[in-house]
Amino acid sequence: MTSVRRAKITALGTYVPPRVLSNFDLEKMVDTTNEWILERTGIRERHLVDKGVAASDLAVEAAKICLANRGIDAKEVECIIVGTVTPDMMYPSTACLVQHKLGIPNTWGFDISAGCSGFLFSLTTGAKFIESGQYKKVLVIGADVNSSMIDYKDRATCIIFGDGAGAVLLEPTEDGEQVGIIDHVHQVEGVGGQYLYMPGGGSLHPTSKETVEQNMHVVHQDGQNVFKYAVKKMSEMTVKVLSRNHLTGSDVDCFIAHQANRRIIVATAERLKMPMDKVIINIEKYGNTTAGTIPLAMQTALDEGKLKKGNNVLLAAVGAGFTSGATLLKWAY
Ligand code: COA
Repeated sequence: MTSVRRAKITALGTYVPPRVLSNFDLEKMVDTTNEWILERTGIRERHLVDKGVAASDLAVEAAKICLANRGIDAKEVECIIVGTVTPDMMYPSTACLVQHKLGIPNTWGFDISAGCSGFLFSLTTGAKFIESGQYKKVLVIGADVNSSMIDYKDRATCIIFGDGAGAVLLEPTEDGEQVGIIDHVHQVEGVGGQYLYMPGGGSLHPTSKETVEQNMHVVHQDGQNVFKYAVKKMSEMTVKVLSRNHLTGSDVDCFIAHQANRRIIVATAERLKMPMDKVIINIEKYGNTTAGTIPLAMQTALDEGKLKKGNNVLLAAVGAGFTSGATLLKWAY
């Protein structure tokens, strides 16, 4: 019997830089309290890079762990896709830098800019190359150094973000194997660009003395509007991908959502009538690492014994753009 060729995740690797910035550290930097941050976001601490460490460095560390977990040499990777909005520089792409640092002689690769949906968009793109038969080993990475563009005087924004990365290896399913990525839904709605953006340094506002003086090289966020959209959209996308596969929240064994705010994840789980023991939340330790959150949460799920072969896994994300998506898969190992 031949079956549909799907992409399956065969290994995972994650990395966060060692330095920790706690809520108590933030109390000394801006007018905030540990209680406010915990209650409004669920975050206790986040990891930040030291000066000189960039997104490609985090990506490479996560990729090395992923490949070691799979037991293969980096030379076998045929394509590298990096979801990031904090690339080392405007160009070359982070994927090129990762290729060079890993020493892969023969590979293709590119970056995907989709804010906090960056990992999901990259995963879907990688899966298409596997499903088409073009490639057998695609490395999908989500990596962000948010601290490089956060205003540590803006108390409503600086408390949320952290730095981190995760990588998964995608490979084709064997004949008759019932695991892997089943379906996905994605959307972009540019009207949301005004609520979460980093205006300076692009072709519209090239870096100048004025852009620096006007604080245009940091993240600008209207938290309430982003919050409202995220709650609405995460529910909408997850319901859509489940219902078109004739499933409900009770069929899901593990829900892994982008970690932006604990309240957004809980609201989505409630809408799906999903018990909280199936919902992965690790925002307390890492904050919002943008494209890093979903692989970091996958690692937490594995560590907690909540991801087993054949489990129905639901992934979901909403991010700057606005961008959004939900992915349904059966865990493969
Ligand atoms: N400490 C103490 N008070 C703070 C604060 C902080 N760190 N940040 C904001 N406040 C204050 C505000 O100034 C406001 O005070 P005011 O009523 O006197 O004007 C009050 O708290 C409420 O502000 P509000 O913006 O309504 O808070 P909130 O409950 O919406 O929480 C966020 C703010 C940013 C945590 C929340 O909106 C959020 O998580 N948004 C989504 C962000 C996100 O997901 N971004 C990534 C996209 S994927």
